[in-house]
Amino acid sequence: MNLLPEAQLIWSPTVANSRMNRERNASGVNSYEQEFKFKPEAYLAAKIAAYGQASWLDLCCGQGNALIQTARYFEQHGQQHLLQLTGIDLVDSFQPLDENITCVEFVSASLLDWMPAQNYDLITCVHGLHYLGDKLEVIERSIAALNPSGRFVANLDLNNLVIQGTNTSTYLKKSFKQLGIAYHARRKVLERVGGLAIKFDLQYLGADDHSGPNYTGQDAVTSYYSG
Ligand SMILES: C[S@@+](CC[C@H](N)C(=O)[O-])C[C@H]1O[C@@H](n2cnc3c(N)ncnc32)[C@H](O)[C@@H]1O
Repeated sequence: MNLLPEAQLIWSPTVANSRMNRERNASGVNSYEQEFKFKPEAYLAAKIAAYGQASWLDLCCGQGNALIQTARYFEQHGQQHLLQLTGIDLVDSFQPLDENITCVEFVSASLLDWMPAQNYDLITCVHGLHYLGDKLEVIERSIAALNPSGRFVANLDLNNLVIQGTNTSTYLKKSFKQLGIAYHARRKVLERVGGLAIKFDLQYLGADDHSGPNYTGQDAVTSYYSG
């Protein structure tokens, strides 16, 4: 099998697929709320109430609608200045920001070239890990970039990872448990509360962009590791 390095993977038709849903909102129809069972704006409002400010990093943010919807909500409540919203995506298909939105920043970059420069109260990756090569590296970096009570939440299909010579699903579920990461197997959602430096202790080998559709029905990328 021809495993692709990150630099080639980002040009793969599986990753550039224009039929992906890049338009989810934060809450309501077609939203992050439906994926993760909480409203980002309510979560961030609670952080503002507790700490006087809140920050959200949305990895693989697509068009950025979730951040924009959230910014509008806080603008209407006069609290936009207490909020910092950052979205990163490989593709610059971000919706334009109207002039009264001041708390949103979009970055066009590959996540594997990205290092978080600060900590966040919320880090999301909604149906983004499916298209990344070194998924575990991004999970490590994300969890390390959480505030002490910050929350990381992401969709993850364990069938899109292979650790050679081992039962990958059993290995990963055990590792997640040891590292204090919850994996909701039915919903395929990974979640961690609280920043922590973690290491999966595996060597990344490369990615297969021809592994076909995962549970979302869209072609996804399978990431290979050796133990
Ligand atoms: C299914 S879309 C989800 C978008 C958004 N989270 C939503 O739910 O509307 C997956 C996104 O991952 C982005 N993506 C894929 N590989 C990436 C990479 N290496 N770095 C950053 N973004 C990437 C794609 O461009 C796409 O916008």
